[in-house]
Amino acid sequence: MGISVIGGGYVGLVTAAALASKGHSVIVVDTDEGRVNSINRGKSPIFEEGFGDVLSDCIRHNCLRATNNYHEILTADITLVCVGTPSNSDGSIDLSSITESAKDIGKMLGKKSEHHTVIVRSTVIPGTTREVIIPALEEYSRKKVHVDFDIAVNPEFMQEGKALQCFFNPDRIIIGEDKRAAGDVVEELYEGISAPIVRTDITTAEMIKYASNAFLATKISFINEIGNVCRKLGIDVYDVAKGISFDYRIGDRFLNAGVGFGGSCLPKDLRALIHASRKLGYHTHLLESVSDVNENQVLKMVQMVEQKLGNLRSKKVCVLGLAFKPNTDDVRNASALKVAKLLVEKGAVVRAYDPLAMPNAKRVLSREIKYCSNAEEAVSDCDCILVLTEWSEFKDESLYYGKMVFDGRRVLDPGKARAFCDYQGICW
Ligand code: UGA
Repeated sequence: MGISVIGGGYVGLVTAAALASKGHSVIVVDTDEGRVNSINRGKSPIFEEGFGDVLSDCIRHNCLRATNNYHEILTADITLVCVGTPSNSDGSIDLSSITESAKDIGKMLGKKSEHHTVIVRSTVIPGTTREVIIPALEEYSRKKVHVDFDIAVNPEFMQEGKALQCFFNPDRIIIGEDKRAAGDVVEELYEGISAPIVRTDITTAEMIKYASNAFLATKISFINEIGNVCRKLGIDVYDVAKGISFDYRIGDRFLNAGVGFGGSCLPKDLRALIHASRKLGYHTHLLESVSDVNENQVLKMVQMVEQKLGNLRSKKVCVLGLAFKPNTDDVRNASALKVAKLLVEKGAVVRAYDPLAMPNAKRVLSREIKYCSNAEEAVSDCDCILVLTEWSEFKDESLYYGKMVFDGRRVLDPGKARAFCDYQGICW
């Protein structure tokens, strides 16, 4: 099939390369010229383990190409919308890229005589496809949905760091359709991939994405809250998590207590759902608490340091890890970066090291932090060490000998660590 993908960001590019490697001919449309050039040279503009090779193979075999020209949609049978849906300052969803792309796709549909299917893969608040995207497509194409063109929703469930793996081995495939034929086109895209397929109406599919991310966030805040109580009782929350995990209704995933969840999805989607519910006249007590508990973990980390060191002014604090999770260079909404910022505000002299995320961290905190070229340099001559991202290289015990250590990610085994350093865990 000829496929066009709008948006060459994380979701768009990985989806495009996955479909291209399944034998489809894929065009990525992105307004950022640098990104387009980089993709066409086979150089990945995103960091994702192993993805560079997949992308360069697709380019070499001429099954994937990028452009900033919307006219190229005309050569495709399908358009996947993969543009970003960031937060506005009040937490609501910013639909400006969605609206712009719907208008541009609409203009092209107006010029096309063959049938076309639009598939919304971006994360959008329930109701957006019917109330915003379809009206824009119809207005700018002067065509009728379900008659002249079709539309379906296919939310993505790709974790950064294992996005391709998530695409090819999904836990489920969600297809939102208001017309059977539109959903059939999505199902065809996944031919050969084995997973339960759930076909629903469009708005339900949009909600499934939010409910999934909200549930994951809830699991994390739940175990962090239990962990905060455990710590006061001298209990190790990781033993508690293991104990509850054998109940198949609970399971063992996403129960790693620590300094909280970050990234470009969980915090933003939680806020957007809270905001959208409020607009509907419903107060999401649980989801607001999930968000509050998460924000508090950052404060808790700094409070632990203050309890030991007193006033942080001029204290030399080493931060290990800045990315929102290991194996990524992404610092968006990273708890680590929030902790580092708070330490700086309190007057601490912060030295930091992260194997990948320092260039991105420098865009947020440039002169305020001294960035070190390796972990050894970062930990040398400091009053304490905070471990904020669980990179495997931070498991090296020799980094911590004789130091005061605050572990926000359970990088060290507390039992062993207490023998060689002054060790405290955030929830254990
Ligand atoms: C998340 C979801 O996991 C994906 O299913 C979804 O498709 C994606 O958002 C999206 O909406 O696009 P991602 O943002 O890559 O994926 O990150 P996760 O792996 O879910 O981790 C999120 C945060 O939770 C990280 O900061 C991580 O450190 C934290 N976390 C995770 C914990 O603190 N404890 C855990 O047990 C698990």
